[in-house]
Amino acid sequence: MELRPFSQADIPPLLAWFQTPAELVQWGGPGRTFPLDEAQMLALLAETQGTHPARRIWAGDRHGALAAVASVVDGRQGTALLTMVGIAPAARGHGLAAPFIGQVLKAVFQDLGVERLELNVYTFNAAALRLYETLGFVREGVRRSLARVGEERWDAAHYSMLRAEYRGVP
Ligand SMILES: CC(C)(COP(=O)(O)OP(=O)(O)OC[C@H]1O[C@@H](n2cnc3c(N)ncnc32)[C@H](O)[C@@H]1OP(=O)(O)O)[C@@H](O)C(=O)NCCC(=O)NCCS
Repeated sequence: MELRPFSQADIPPLLAWFQTPAELVQWGGPGRTFPLDEAQMLALLAETQGTHPARRIWAGDRHGALAAVASVVDGRQGTALLTMVGIAPAARGHGLAAPFIGQVLKAVFQDLGVERLELNVYTFNAAALRLYETLGFVREGVRRSLARVGEERWDAAHYSMLRAEYRGVP
């Protein structure tokens, strides 16, 4: 899968990934509004502009189609947040996530000079937990009752990886 910057042309296929509010929150956290629409994605894309953008969004291109997405939000003092990690529904379950996020980690640690990359993952999300632990993220704890989805509240595990722990693209 080829890593490239996410572009406006990727928005229509991405919007089709999320059929329910729960699917949207699982991917993008409680900050997105269901249904995800072009205006929300254009606002996020606007944050990727400029010399020192507040956000990066990458696409994973496979056979000319959008197969993966991930975003990193710049924090202070060399920290950053990995968010919006997703594989296209039709491409899930084929082991594509680790090599894709491995390329994102390479960009984050080698090109952007980040020292600490952190993320939140809902504790029921077995595939994502497995993905992050395979890549070498370290679990720091559980942020209880972090998100509300319908009548439910979801716990999120908090993970981080330091530059010294980065092991390269799997
Ligand atoms: C999370 C996600 C990116 C993982 O990608 P994927 O294509 O489904 O997963 P992969 O095929 O790459 O497998 C990842 C690992 O999880 C394991 N796995 C997959 N589904 C699983 C399940 N239901 N239970 C337990 N383990 C599972 C795989 O066996 C693999 O582990 P391995 O490397 O030891 O074999 C993808 O499912 C997705 O986009 N989900 C919706 C959005 C989301 O939840 N994003 C994460 C936000 S933190």
